[in-house]
Amino acid sequence: MDFASAKSIYIDLLREIERHNRLYHTHDAPEITDMEFDALVEQKKSLEKEFPSLADLAPETPGSATLPGFQKVNHQTPMLSLENAFDEKDLKDFFNRAHRFLGQSLDGDFTCVAEPKIDGLSASLIYQNGKLVQAATRGDGRTGEDITTNVKTIHDIPHHLMTFPEGRLEVRGEIYMRLSDFHTLNKLRESENEPPFANPRNAAAGSIRQLDPDVTASRKLHFFAYQIISETDHLFTHMERISALSTMGFPVNPHIQLCHTLQDLLRFYERMERERDSLDYEIDGCVYKINDLSLQERLGFVGKAPRFAVAHKFKAAKAQSLIEDVLFQ
Ligand code: IVH
Repeated sequence: MDFASAKSIYIDLLREIERHNRLYHTHDAPEITDMEFDALVEQKKSLEKEFPSLADLAPETPGSATLPGFQKVNHQTPMLSLENAFDEKDLKDFFNRAHRFLGQSLDGDFTCVAEPKIDGLSASLIYQNGKLVQAATRGDGRTGEDITTNVKTIHDIPHHLMTFPEGRLEVRGEIYMRLSDFHTLNKLRESENEPPFANPRNAAAGSIRQLDPDVTASRKLHFFAYQIISETDHLFTHMERISALSTMGFPVNPHIQLCHTLQDLLRFYERMERERDSLDYEIDGCVYKINDLSLQERLGFVGKAPRFAVAHKFKAAKAQSLIEDVLFQ
């Protein structure tokens, strides 16, 4: 094979590897198996062996892909995803299934906590006697990456809690980048001939997966806490946990609201959709969680998603345009 053809295959491979890395690590939506991915990496390596100068074309830090150098962390409780609902019918189906599963009508206990769905990356924070001891990405839900050093540069995340239970406490939430910081960062990157990030979510993911914590610190990341994993916190409702998070010193989203009927949830959704453009962070829908923790426990999980929570997605991303026609040539 001559150098020119090797180079063109190599560049295609770099693009493919980068794309699959992003699908897997940033979007949690791989399109190929681990084995197929490894085969691409092997192909890249064998081209580098034959034409060593090709390696200069490979990015040193491949965007938001996982970098070697991060320890793996096994989540004690898997980090799951949410079932999606796109309209009122999907929501009714969701609540009907919950009713049926409980074998009781939820009429009296319908109360839900409605929250904006923050478009960032989820993180698990472990506190031991109130002290932050470990932070991890979601990864594949079972195993994430240890990002403790980088997370310690995020001002929103307390190193020591103001109030705390004895022993171990796990707090989960979303790391995100503000839109204003995202635009500033991309302008800077363009002026330095670096490729801009496609969206704040990728920018946040790329910023947290930096081997140099000073780079993470310079990216001004933020955090909203939305979950306590505990069997011993003696609280009865999700809303009490949200208040507890705030008392401990975490930022919680100011729009979080208690809803008592499906109509309340739909009104919340419409309000968030209207207010979406005036927020300085991206949201891609709303999350509704059944408030009563004993009901949550009874409902449990199906596959990779809880039966007690659902994501009500917005119809289209903010800056997405409608494709009216596609012409095949
Ligand atoms: S609760 C059991 N609440 O959405 C699932 N998730 O598809 C617990 N997210 O991976 C998640 N805002 O990264 C929850 N207010 C919110 C959220 C939220 C954003 C993300 C999170 C999760 C994904 C679920």
